[in-house]
Amino acid sequence: MQPQSAFGPGFVWGVATSAYQIEGAVSEDGRSPSIWDTFCRVPGAVDGGDTGDVACDHYHRWPEDVELMRRLGVDAYRFSVAWPRVIPDGSGEVNPRGLAFYDRLVDALLEAGIRPFVTLYHWDLPQALQDRGGWPSRETALRFAEYAAVVAAALGDRVTDWTTLNEPLCSSWIGHLEGRMAPGWTDLTAAVRASCHLHLGHGLAVQAIRAAARSAPSVGIVNNLSTCEPATGSDEDHAATRRMDGHVNRWWLDPVMGRGYPEDMVEVYGVDLPIREGDLETIAAPLDYLGLNYYFRQIVADDPTGPAPYARQVPVPGAPVTGMDWEVNADGLERLLLRLTREYGAGRLYVTENGSAWPDAVGPDGTVDDPERAAYLEDHIAACARAVRQGAPLAGYFAWSLLDNFEWAYGYDKRFGLVHVDYATQARTVKTSGHRYAALIRDHRRAPVV
Ligand code: IFM
Repeated sequence: MQPQSAFGPGFVWGVATSAYQIEGAVSEDGRSPSIWDTFCRVPGAVDGGDTGDVACDHYHRWPEDVELMRRLGVDAYRFSVAWPRVIPDGSGEVNPRGLAFYDRLVDALLEAGIRPFVTLYHWDLPQALQDRGGWPSRETALRFAEYAAVVAAALGDRVTDWTTLNEPLCSSWIGHLEGRMAPGWTDLTAAVRASCHLHLGHGLAVQAIRAAARSAPSVGIVNNLSTCEPATGSDEDHAATRRMDGHVNRWWLDPVMGRGYPEDMVEVYGVDLPIREGDLETIAAPLDYLGLNYYFRQIVADDPTGPAPYARQVPVPGAPVTGMDWEVNADGLERLLLRLTREYGAGRLYVTENGSAWPDAVGPDGTVDDPERAAYLEDHIAACARAVRQGAPLAGYFAWSLLDNFEWAYGYDKRFGLVHVDYATQARTVKTSGHRYAALIRDHRRAPVV
């Protein structure tokens, strides 16, 4: 049978990374510490005591990494800008050497025919702003908009695709409620306040980007979402599933899509929202797209004594799991794309991250054979195709990640890359999955669209 594709000619095939996970060079050219530099120094916070000090040394090796992407044949590269490089104090003076790094990177990408998708915040808040209250403080939202304006003014003549925040759920719930990410707090009030200020910062940044970028920008936000299903047929598990859905999905979608914060969840949290007149309108600034990061679904059980939302994810006996112990479930991606289309009326969608960690091994011949990652990619791209055929306005897919990198509290042990990184030598080796992704892209481009 002749191969067919669900994806039209303008479909964007990309790879994604983030600044702290790959750049290294944390003290170079005027960069100041971020909350992750601080968190990595907390004993026991990160597996193996790993830090982002060197990471993939992308700050120095970016030409090689751009060349790798060119060879893979991707259309686009989604990366994040490190706020502590650009405005080291979090506000005020701009550091031209920090901006120059992204300036060079953008030029090189364009020269290689790769479209830059710039994320402004992928969790590396300048420590100086944390010291002034961090995201639980309204000031941080205002400073974020100023920083967005600076980056958009510098790169907006060449960059059209902008993301304000990556996964504000992680910054809020994991960083301020569960304490497993920077800044490592376990305070529900602070977490709820952080979530509202992240949203406010997002809305203000949307305005700032539109005002500062010279070309017509495409601006969106990226959320990590999960389908939620009850563990049993009990009323308690059904109610818990509704709460989990509110916690991981609706809290992040409703306000930016103009619906305000979900009332049931405001009640569950029992925290006064730090929202002032006009904020909800700012937060609901019209967007050009929604970005979806998809990794797993959640099977949910009631957990009345646990922390908010008093619901917990339970394992699925016998289900295939990745090296993160995350269940492999491609159907969840299809369902989320359709939910964003039908329930939220999204006009354009990108899968801005999707990928899997496996315990890769370098073979005696130097190759890295990772059939599980290749299969995961194929299955999830097939799920995207099913969603497109049912009407999802999916405009692109970004594999997480281009390179093995610093996987936050898990350190370097968890490898998500299409390209293997030997951290001792910084040698890059394209894995079987990287070659497979390149072939998939070529095949889809050639195939008739049906
Ligand atoms: O590595 C992270 C990334 O920074 C955000 N999304 C999930 C990835 C895998 O955990």
